[in-house]
Amino acid sequence: MKGIVFTEFLEMVEEVFSPEIADQVITESGISSDGVYTAVGTYPHEEIVAMVGALSRITDTDAEALVKAFGRHLFGRFVSLYPGFFEGVGGTFQFLGSIEDHVHIEVRKLYPDAELPTFVCTYPDARTMVMRYESSRPFAALAEGLIEGAIAHWNESISVRREDRGDGQTGMGRAEFTLARTA
Ligand code: HEM
Repeated sequence: MKGIVFTEFLEMVEEVFSPEIADQVITESGISSDGVYTAVGTYPHEEIVAMVGALSRITDTDAEALVKAFGRHLFGRFVSLYPGFFEGVGGTFQFLGSIEDHVHIEVRKLYPDAELPTFVCTYPDARTMVMRYESSRPFAALAEGLIEGAIAHWNESISVRREDRGDGQTGMGRAEFTLARTA
């Protein structure tokens, strides 16, 4: 997983909790990189899973909830870091529909060794979008937070329902998100 994900995670922990808790997370998660990441480096995704686990224990907060909160935070950071992806985009459905064929394609140009998921999007009716997430990594909760971040960014009334489709054994991420306009 690219270093940018790790640096943004640790920055969020510093901001939302404290720099001391960020240090504690690094120490208690037993990761080998000692919390030193560069944006372009690549590190085992298990390290972020371990850091989330440590943060969950230290703050007595549900790990899923922490990953989702990180996804919402990361979305805001993407808006600041990559404004070009948002220019001329009219809303949540349009943006999320462009992740697979545009955003992540450009991400791969920036970071050729990025490990990206796939999203297959369908539109059952004018108010509904379904995104099928598939990855060899278990980051459906991150996707959920990013989706919520997009909805908040465009300030739209859209509900999100997530159904996990993975078998829970292989560490594979598989989930289906149903986004429905509520207003
Ligand atoms: C401007 C917007 C976005 C940018 C710049 C971006 C960029 C990235 C980058 C750099 C990674 C890390 C790749 C790696 O670790 O090797 C990543 C992973 C990921 N992205 Fe995006 N992304 C964006 C939007 C989204 C959105 C809106 C979603 C959700 C619908 C999403 C879903 C994910 C997930 C779940 C991963 C983790 C890897 C996995 O699940 O296998 N991304 N993205």
